[in-house]
Amino acid sequence: MFGKLELNKIYKGDCIELLKKIPDNSVDLIFADPPYNLQLNGELYRPNQTKVNGVNDDWDKFESKEQYDNFALLWIKECRRVLKDTGGFWVIGTYHNIFRVGKILQDIGFWILNDIIWIKNNPIPNFKGTRFTNAHETLIWAAKSEKSKYTFHYQAMKTSNDDLQMRSDWLIPICNGKQRIKTNGQKAHSTQKPQELLLRIILSTSNPGDIILDPFCGSGTTAAVAKLLGRKYITFDNKQAYIKIAKQRLKQIKPLDKPLLQYKIERKKPKVTVGNLIEKGYVKIGENLYSADKEYKAQVFADASVIYNGEAGSIHKTSAKILQKESYNGWTYWHVQREDKLISIDRFRYDYEKEYLL
Ligand SMILES: C[S@@+](CC[C@H](N)C(=O)[O-])C[C@H]1O[C@@H](n2cnc3c(N)ncnc32)[C@H](O)[C@@H]1O
Repeated sequence: MFGKLELNKIYKGDCIELLKKIPDNSVDLIFADPPYNLQLNGELYRPNQTKVNGVNDDWDKFESKEQYDNFALLWIKECRRVLKDTGGFWVIGTYHNIFRVGKILQDIGFWILNDIIWIKNNPIPNFKGTRFTNAHETLIWAAKSEKSKYTFHYQAMKTSNDDLQMRSDWLIPICNGKQRIKTNGQKAHSTQKPQELLLRIILSTSNPGDIILDPFCGSGTTAAVAKLLGRKYITFDNKQAYIKIAKQRLKQIKPLDKPLLQYKIERKKPKVTVGNLIEKGYVKIGENLYSADKEYKAQVFADASVIYNGEAGSIHKTSAKILQKESYNGWTYWHVQREDKLISIDRFRYDYEKEYLL
């Protein structure tokens, strides 16, 4: 059980009521694709007089901007309550709603990390020729607070982007072709998002096994990608017809094998020194460092040097000396004893970084 609900399920109902059934600080990642309140008045036709199949659904309509804001405040507040301190919050929108949503986020304590521009390389043209073609949507990525230690796989994103730092402008086609779910030849959901968008979000800001929540399931894109990538999901929609579509979609997804989901490329080593570890008590003055087989040991001194066989040196110089090498990486050589286990001091660098630097 997950509070009053279960994981890997789609629930029917109002998302605000369902969110209340989820425990505080329990979700790793939230992706929300809420109603945009598009306010499209009248029907839109192409120059050849065919009708544009836009978003004209009842669930997207609100009586006023105030009503929209009140709704947004309620579901966003609940999302913040259920999000872990280390979690990430994503919301997508257009100029109709994203600025209003952004203000609410900031007002209640979220800390915006990026606004991502999803550039559509095949947007719907501005048929009337009265405005620029609206060729993008905006995603806000936020941490729970300014101090939150959120998850971000910087190196994985860089690797997937031809070894160039991933930028905040993402060029992704809108959802069509085989990916678009259809019933009787018609779009099954008017706002089905491309799975590439969710792949990037989930791969960059969560880990395998994490719990991912989507308060607005629709055709189930978030849940489908979460399942594929070995994450747990929980999602809501108040329309039974969409839930049916999403359930069918999920049945066809087979999660990738666990080993394929682990990131293999080592990220940059944290800028942490032995002195830093001593200052914060990860390594204690006077204790021994050990080689992995415990054959060699060296004692830690107050200046972060280690003494082996009566001779002082850095962790690197000392390990190189033992191994009779020119140089060696002492971080991977030395361990400390904690209870009955040996722990690599290299691990402490990451613990320190997570605790004090991110
Ligand atoms: C923009 S769509 C989400 C589309 C989805 N991301 C996808 O890729 O298919 C929003 C969905 O939220 C649902 N919805 C609207 N208001 C809701 C509410 N108060 N509680 C639960 N679901 C709601 C709608 O039925 C609609 O399916």
